[in-house]
Amino acid sequence: MNIAVITGASSGLGKEYVKAVYNKYSNLDEILIIARREDRLIEIAKGISEKIVPVSMDITSNDFTQNFENLLKEKNANIRVLINNAGFGKLGNFYDISVADNRDMITLNCTAFTVLERIALEYMNDNAKIINICSIASFAPNSRMAVYSSTKAYVMSFSRALREELKPRKINVLAVCPGPMDTEFLSVANIKKGTSKTFDTLPRVSPKTVAEKSLVASEKNRAVYTNRLFYKFYRFVAKILPANLVVRFCGA
Ligand SMILES: NC(=O)c1ccc[n+]([C@@H]2O[C@H](COP(=O)([O-])OP(=O)(O)OC[C@H]3O[C@@H](n4cnc5c(N)ncnc54)[C@H](OP(=O)(O)O)[C@@H]3O)[C@@H](O)[C@H]2O)c1
Repeated sequence: MNIAVITGASSGLGKEYVKAVYNKYSNLDEILIIARREDRLIEIAKGISEKIVPVSMDITSNDFTQNFENLLKEKNANIRVLINNAGFGKLGNFYDISVADNRDMITLNCTAFTVLERIALEYMNDNAKIINICSIASFAPNSRMAVYSSTKAYVMSFSRALREELKPRKINVLAVCPGPMDTEFLSVANIKKGTSKTFDTLPRVSPKTVAEKSLVASEKNRAVYTNRLFYKFYRFVAKILPANLVVRFCGA
């Protein structure tokens, strides 16, 4: 069965990917949408098509690996598109963020992300597409989001390395790097008006545009996709300036 897998599909960017993948890939038999909130997933699926299959799973839980493998086996899955999107951040100085929140960010954004990608690869054939959701936070270390920006630097480094490994199989790995989007991410991260000058002033990015345009970038076998000229310029500047200088201006 030809399928797509989208994690973090119950809101924000993931929800936009559900619609974008459904519209772009008419040859898929099913699109598995994964998140913890089942009611949200059911609602999203209802509004689009029977091809959208809600899968309520916590991808950080101990039984995730077995349950995900069983599901893919049962479906005799051939994953054509993987959108590895679930993730969260927290705003604040490292010491002011709880031990649990710092740990959970790494668990979801790095560990679960990697485990899921490893399992999914067993069910992929040549020419499949992997889209990893990274962030502009991966371009330089961000004070007041030290752990979050480090997890996204991991996603970027991992994506580039895996892309190289998978070239012989013609499986492209794309790292998508959105700027700030008005999604639940902000409330989960405790970002509200007045808590961060950076978030108050940075231009917003549309999750719908990111989803649609990144699918095009993936089809063109690109390595990185960044939306908006402003953030493309930031990516360039962060690359050429000395790290000690960039980090001074990139706090959250
Ligand atoms: N919004 C931004 O400003 C921004 C900027 C750059 C990058 N990003 C990245 O974009 C991605 C999507 O974020 P978003 O903005 O769309 O935020 P969001 O609306 O909060 O979406 C996060 C998604 O992840 C799911 N999720 C969280 N923990 C999970 C778990 N343990 N198991 C399974 N699913 C889980 C959530 O669903 P449930 O709660 O139902 O499980 C939700 O569907 C993230 O990787 C984020 O780091 C966001």
